[in-house]
Amino acid sequence: MPSRAQRLDAIPPYLFAEISRVKLAAIAAGADVIDLGIGDPDIPTPQGVIDALTEAVKNPKTHRYDETALGWTSFLEAACNWYKREFGVQIDSKSEITQLIGSKEGLGHLAWAYLDPGDYAIVPNPAYSVYKVNSQMAGGLVHEMPLAEENGFLPVLADIPTDVARKAKLLYVCYPNNPTGAIATLEFYKDAVQFCREHDILLVNDMAYATVAYDGFKNPTVMQVDGAKDIAIEFHSLSKMYNMTGWRLGFALGNPDAVSNLAKIKSNLDSKAFPAIAEAGAFALNSLDNAETISIYEKRRDYLCDGLNAIGWKVKKPQATFYVWARIPRDDMSSAEFCKELLERAHIVAIPGTGYGSEGEGYCRMSLTLLGDKQGERFQLAVKRIAESGLLPALV
Ligand SMILES: Cc1ncc(COP(=O)(O)O)c(C=O)c1O
Repeated sequence: MPSRAQRLDAIPPYLFAEISRVKLAAIAAGADVIDLGIGDPDIPTPQGVIDALTEAVKNPKTHRYDETALGWTSFLEAACNWYKREFGVQIDSKSEITQLIGSKEGLGHLAWAYLDPGDYAIVPNPAYSVYKVNSQMAGGLVHEMPLAEENGFLPVLADIPTDVARKAKLLYVCYPNNPTGAIATLEFYKDAVQFCREHDILLVNDMAYATVAYDGFKNPTVMQVDGAKDIAIEFHSLSKMYNMTGWRLGFALGNPDAVSNLAKIKSNLDSKAFPAIAEAGAFALNSLDNAETISIYEKRRDYLCDGLNAIGWKVKKPQATFYVWARIPRDDMSSAEFCKELLERAHIVAIPGTGYGSEGEGYCRMSLTLLGDKQGERFQLAVKRIAESGLLPALV
C-alpha cells in the first residue's frame, strides 16, 4: 500500500475517543445515557417534504444528471424567494446562488477554490472544524481569531495582524454560532464587510442555523449590509431548518465570482444532489416554516438552563442555535475531565469545549436535539441527575 497524502495529516486526532469509550461502556452496562453530544435534529423531516420527494421520484427527469451550471432550477428559485421573504434581500437565481450537497461540503470546497500554498484563511476559535481543516488540506495557512465571552463570542477584527490580513483570502465566521450559540449584530457584519473590503478578503458567513432562534428573535444576515455582495458569500442549509440532516441539501449565495468559483470546483468533484431531493427541498423552502420544532427546542432550553441555574450551575440561555455553551462549574477540572465525570457520574454526554479549539477550554457544549425526548422531560431528568451527581460546588 502506498502512504497516504500528507494533507491528511492536517486532520486532527479524534478528541472524543475517551468520551466515546466511557459512553459505550455505560450503555453496555445498561445505563440510561442522556446524549447531549451530537447536534442532529431528533424530530423527523416534515411529512410534506417526504411526500414531495415521493412525487418527484416518479418523474423520470429527476433520474438523470442535473446538467445545470449552478443547481436544480426550481430549488434555486425557491431558495432565492425564501431568502427574500426571510431577510428582505434579492438574490439572482442565475448567478448569485449555487446548490450544495449540504453546507459542509460547500464550506470545505470553498477553501480548495481559493487557497494556494501560503495564502491565509482566518477562522474562529472555537469553531466547526471544517473551515480550518479544509484550509490546511488545501495548502493554506490558518490564523485563528479567539471568540471570547466578554466580546459576545464575536471576533475582534482589529486584533488580526496586518501581515496576516494582507495574505488572507478567506475570513470565515459563523452566526448564529456553533458551538457558542452566540448571535451576530448587523453592526458586526458591517465591520466585517468593511474589514474584508479593505484587505480584499472573501467574507464567508456560515448560517447553518439561520432560522433556529428563540423568543421571537430573528437573525440578521451579512447580505443585509450594503455592498456585502461585493465581498461576501453566505452558506445555508436545509439540515437544521427542516430536520433534513440526512438529505444533504444546502446552498451558497452572494458574490457571483465566489459562487461561480465554488461551482467550478464542485463541477469537477460531484454531479450535484439527486434532483428529486432538490424538488423536495424546493417544496420545503416554498411552503414550510420550523415554528413547531423551534417551540420544542425552546421548551427544552428553558428546562435545561432554568434547571441548571436553579441548582447552582450558571448558564446563559442561547437566543439561537440548539446549543447551550456552558462554563465548566469546576476550576479543578479541564473541560475534558469534567465531561468524563459528567458521563461517569450522571450518564450525561456533553462535548468538551476543546473539541472546537483551544479557546473552548473551560466550556462544554450541550445540544437540545435529543432522540427520545418529547417535551423536555429528559432535560428535566438531566438536571436532576447533575444535581445528585455531587459534581457541582455546594450552593451557599
Ligand atoms: C456550524 C455548522 N456549519 C455547517 C454545518 C453543516 O451542515 P450541513 O452540511 O448538514 O448543511 C454544521 C453541521 O453541524 C454546523 O454545525
